[in-house]
Amino acid sequence: GVIRSYDFTISRGILAPDGYEREVLLINGAFPAPLIEANWGDTIQVTVHNHITHPEEGASLHWHGLLQKGTPWQDGVPGVTQCPIAPGESFTYQFLADMYGTSWYHSHYSGQYSGGLFGPMVIHGPQSQEYDVDIGPVLLSDWYHDDYFSLVEQTMAANSTPVVADSNLINGKMNFNCSSIAHKDATPCVSDAGISKFKFRRGKTHLLRLVNSGAQGLQRFSIDGHKMTVIANDFVPVEPYDTKVVTLGIGQRSDVLVKADGDLEAYWMRANVSRICGRNHNPDAVAAIYYDDAKEDEEPKSVASDVPDPGSCANDDLDLTRPLMKMELPEPDLIIDMEVRLFTNGSGVKLWSLDGVSFRGNYNSPTLLLSNLGNLTFDEEWNVRIIQGAKSVRVHLINNTTVPHPMHLHGFNMYILAEGEGEWDGRINHPENPQRRDVFQVRRHGHLVMQFDAAENPGVWPFHCHIAWHASAGFFIQFLTGHEVVETMRIPNVVAETCRQWAKWTHTNIPA
Ligand code: C2O
Repeated sequence: GVIRSYDFTISRGILAPDGYEREVLLINGAFPAPLIEANWGDTIQVTVHNHITHPEEGASLHWHGLLQKGTPWQDGVPGVTQCPIAPGESFTYQFLADMYGTSWYHSHYSGQYSGGLFGPMVIHGPQSQEYDVDIGPVLLSDWYHDDYFSLVEQTMAANSTPVVADSNLINGKMNFNCSSIAHKDATPCVSDAGISKFKFRRGKTHLLRLVNSGAQGLQRFSIDGHKMTVIANDFVPVEPYDTKVVTLGIGQRSDVLVKADGDLEAYWMRANVSRICGRNHNPDAVAAIYYDDAKEDEEPKSVASDVPDPGSCANDDLDLTRPLMKMELPEPDLIIDMEVRLFTNGSGVKLWSLDGVSFRGNYNSPTLLLSNLGNLTFDEEWNVRIIQGAKSVRVHLINNTTVPHPMHLHGFNMYILAEGEGEWDGRINHPENPQRRDVFQVRRHGHLVMQFDAAENPGVWPFHCHIAWHASAGFFIQFLTGHEVVETMRIPNVVAETCRQWAKWTHTNIPA
């Protein structure tokens, strides 16, 4: 493969994606951030300059869903694989495009990505199904008028009110009704910011690369008058199945094929945030699809498909989703039971815990660098679980809360063995070829049983809820796999350099 090089400058700028002006985190001046595109087997190289000002803050970029086999230090997780990139400093990521399909990249520094630091990533590989037109990424993201740090604070406060999205965006666009806030807010706002528009060619089959790149909401995506054929979930091609609605938790992707066989000239595509599974007032998003020569200044007149929200807050039925490339489930040699809880600590702060610990980030000495030095004693609040010798690890997760969660594992595709309400009945879904994904929803008061082949990828790999503020408030565990291999890894000096730069910056900026 060849090297695909990108030069990214991160900054803060005033932007109004939905018409309401706010400070947005940008890459090379753009929101959403630029597309990263490569062929399977290529090397992707991204030099990141942290030019964030007013205020300055750390940053990092994570390449969601790539395995980083042999390069765990390129995973982009501050406190786990590197220190944050300090303001004014740069860091060059270089890693293999080791999976193919649709994904995204995003900051992994606190809840920062929800302030705008995310972009699409497409890795071209073998085509499992025929299509005529690649429409490209369709990013669905709930959007907030407040900065991410105040939202994180808001969710953790003792008397916290749930965070409600102000908008829902498709590829960074949607119209916001400014009159709903004008009386109490002097922020510049226009009600006709504009929506995203797509072209369809009549009779042709189109590939849409759906990504939930939001902060909190479970998206339900549909196109009026059309059915969709799902051909991949996350980075895993599946046996095609038809549906009128695709459900995507945060971080999840689905590649869908859509045949332009409608009677009208224009249609709405819709991204509805599940109200039952989230909050009552979440706004929806639309974008327009125009066939051939349809007039793009006219709004589509199509009517929404009848796709009632089942309210389960679950992904598509596991029975529907069979990977095309068959992989049998190995016997696990370690079974871990863990529970998710929400609690209020002694200071009245609302926190999440996973496996009995509410994770607290350790930005100054990343777990991977410590393990590389043979130091395996970690503070309890870092929530590191050392996987000793096990080849395949089964995790039996109990969600003891009233909220559904998109659970994400780094470094592996999880085998999804079971998911459902209440307790697990012990039944494994298609052990001869279970669904594999890197994010899977667990419903409220439900269970998720997944497994991963730990021995195949030595490193430190977070398993966390992908809701921006849940991860920031402790819903995060790190699996240290193959520590004897990690000890012999030759981690480039530039990784430790991020820590020297970060220490220098924090020393100047946070006087003791
Ligand atoms: Cu999409 Cu831990 O990340």
